Amino acid sequence: MSSTTTVSSPVEAVRLADPYPYYARLVAERSFAYDEALGAWVAADAAAVRAVLGSGALRVRPVAEPVPAGIAGTAAGEVFGELVRMTDGAAAARLKGVVAGALARADTAYAASLAARFAREALSAGGEVPYEELMFAVPARVVAALSGLTEGAGREAARAIGDFVQCIPATATPEQQRAAATAAARLRELLGPALTAASAVHTAGGAQGLLRELVTAAERDGWARLGPLLSNAIGFLSQTYDATAGLIGNTLVALARGAEGSDTGALVREVVRHDAPIQNTRRFAAEAFAHAGSTVEPGQQILVLLAAANRDPAVNPDPHALTPGRVNPAVFTFGAAAHRCPGGELATALADAVVTELRAAGLGTTATPAYRPLANARIPLL
Ligand code: HEM
Repeated sequence: MSSTTTVSSPVEAVRLADPYPYYARLVAERSFAYDEALGAWVAADAAAVRAVLGSGALRVRPVAEPVPAGIAGTAAGEVFGELVRMTDGAAAARLKGVVAGALARADTAYAASLAARFAREALSAGGEVPYEELMFAVPARVVAALSGLTEGAGREAARAIGDFVQCIPATATPEQQRAAATAAARLRELLGPALTAASAVHTAGGAQGLLRELVTAAERDGWARLGPLLSNAIGFLSQTYDATAGLIGNTLVALARGAEGSDTGALVREVVRHDAPIQNTRRFAAEAFAHAGSTVEPGQQILVLLAAANRDPAVNPDPHALTPGRVNPAVFTFGAAAHRCPGGELATALADAVVTELRAAGLGTTATPAYRPLANARIPLL
């Protein structure tokens, strides 16, 4: 598929060579409108995206199906149903505070040094550049290590999380759902003892780490149940996986397209806005929601085009220019309001470290890759 292909759906745009002229047309002409073919509303400009993400009338899951039917009753369904990402309401908001509190204290400098080491090791094998491993496994292994897993267990967790994330899109097949259930059960076995150890160590005042921070944040809040903490520890891995892979890949593509002179950290942060690894998210109306003269009825769905809003000229001057070091950009890639991503700093540090190692090794990629056939993550096939 090339950039000149006529786009028939904003979901298809995610994997085009250049979806941005299409998004720009939506921002200019259909900033908040119902898409018949998609059967959903589409929020494209910054004002609509902000309003949708900030509304209490809209939920992250359909009211009638909090957990996808194909994984309900499995370990994958249990984990999914406890993720702060996939739930709303008072308990979810409280747990979100705990999760965000833990991530805010994550040691990003240590995470970056681990990512650099894992990347160097992957590159030292020689032969074909192991892009898959650098984009997906390295960030997941770092988060596993921050969670207290040994290197062997971290490698296994990185493989299992690849299976788990397959159950998240609405298009998941029964086979993918079965594999996700097996993976979720294994991830609980791997991370459960680390979480229990973190809570025991805490009372004795010992080791550091992400799970230790999770337990400490939970205790500060008076949150006692370990089950939801374990699910969200698995969530750290699943939220890292595709999104950070996309950020690494899209930064490499930006370099190949002419950004070679840029500082890596500044480039990664601008790629977050300019070529968002997560291009869209969804909301489901629990109550009526009105915006710009239109009303979304309860039960209807909204596709939220984060990647389009990032390039809305109303919030970012010269929005289509890739400008590393851009001052105070409006960025929607990490969402906004109640469900805003608490992992942005960590993701940016991991991507910076991996891309820095590739640049130091003199390795680059093509400027015109194909993209994985995904509905919301933009990840080049390198
Ligand atoms: C480039 C990498 C990343 C991108 C683009 C990204 C993007 C997002 C977005 C858009 C959301 C909100 C979804 C919505 O409101 O519908 C989100 C939520 C979340 N992200 Fe990230 N993320 C990234 C990396 C990470 C990492 C590394 C972690 C943690 C290790 C993380 C943890 C989370 C969590 C826990 C949530 C759920 C927050 C909530 O629902 O309240 N993310 N992310």
